[in-house]
Amino acid sequence: MKLLVTGGAGFIGSSFIRHLLESHQDIELVNFDCLTYAGNLENLSDLCTDSRYSFVKGDISSLIEVEEALNQEVDAVINFAAETHVDRSILNPSAFVRTNIQGTQVLLEASRRRKVSRFIQISTDEVYGSLKESGRFTEQSPLSPNSPYAASKAGGDLLLRSYHKTYGMDVIITRSCNNYGPYQFPEKLIPLMILNALEDKPLPVYGDGLHVRDWIHVTDHCRALAKVLLEGRPGQIYNIGSNQEEPNLEVVHQILDDLGKSHELVQFVEDRPGHDRRYAIDATLIRTELDWSPQVSFKQGLAETIHWYQENFDWVNNVLSGTYRSYYQQMYENRDETLKGL
Ligand SMILES: NC(=O)c1ccc[n+]([C@@H]2O[C@H](COP(=O)([O-])OP(=O)(O)OC[C@H]3O[C@@H](n4cnc5c(N)ncnc54)[C@H](O)[C@@H]3O)[C@@H](O)[C@H]2O)c1
Repeated sequence: MKLLVTGGAGFIGSSFIRHLLESHQDIELVNFDCLTYAGNLENLSDLCTDSRYSFVKGDISSLIEVEEALNQEVDAVINFAAETHVDRSILNPSAFVRTNIQGTQVLLEASRRRKVSRFIQISTDEVYGSLKESGRFTEQSPLSPNSPYAASKAGGDLLLRSYHKTYGMDVIITRSCNNYGPYQFPEKLIPLMILNALEDKPLPVYGDGLHVRDWIHVTDHCRALAKVLLEGRPGQIYNIGSNQEEPNLEVVHQILDDLGKSHELVQFVEDRPGHDRRYAIDATLIRTELDWSPQVSFKQGLAETIHWYQENFDWVNNVLSGTYRSYYQQMYENRDETLKGL
């Protein structure tokens, strides 16, 4: 089986590529990625010598580049490529519309023309919006996105639905909760807090810090995606969650405790506009139909992730170098002013 994995140089895509090559000898993979600030081939440097793996630099919103990649006659496309950071979507929504909606449509259209057998879209629980204290999102929950990021992912999901209903394409959507683990770009909550804590810098926590997220280790997510790829039903949506809900402040406190640092490093900052209060996923369908369940407890996975960032400072310095460093500083050192200016 030959796969085109788009966005494979990012956090989850690179973990998926490594998982699939390790667990399935008969799979060949083409990683198609335009290498934005979040894409980093260093994430896959250990696979350079594996003849089953190759890389093509390209943009999913360019029909020419996508069609050229599909000349390799792939059996399935798995789309991880996206703009993924909610804060960036608040500052610049158009980049999110371009990649997450237009790019998804270009990829779908090229896959339809080439008669690709299966198309999998990696989506997010954020498309469902926010929950109160109780209840969980099921695959039937209405789409109610609150950030430009979530809205652009919902738009991509609806395009998949239309290609299934209109053209009969074999498409599947997965909607996962928050991922964590090695190689996550240090703008997301867990790596940002680990790195700030290691340097004794303030840990910026939005609002009262009581926003609740369901956390899944990236390897558990990737095992679920491999099941969906090989055994999932056409036209189906699968929620992927691990039932490990934590308020953001509790996550930050666990990081500080693991590193032996003071809770006084926590700095509450003005809340993010449109900040969803709680996400929780009902993953009964994938658990029962595809016999999947998460293996990594949040406590153990978080401790291992902290250790990985401590051991991989070179990787951190590389991804934070150059132009991104000034963007990063602008976002996080002047974030209150930036948000007030919206
Ligand atoms: N990280 C999470 O917690 C989470 C949770 C649920 C769903 N998701 C979804 O999973 C997918 C992967 O997320 P991630 O955290 O690995 O993201 P990431 O930001 O780490 O990586 C995104 C990758 O996509 C590439 N990319 C961006 N625009 C592109 C384009 N136009 N053409 C080709 N490549 C492009 C980037 O270079 C990068 O390698 C996304 O679709 C995201 O919406 C993420």
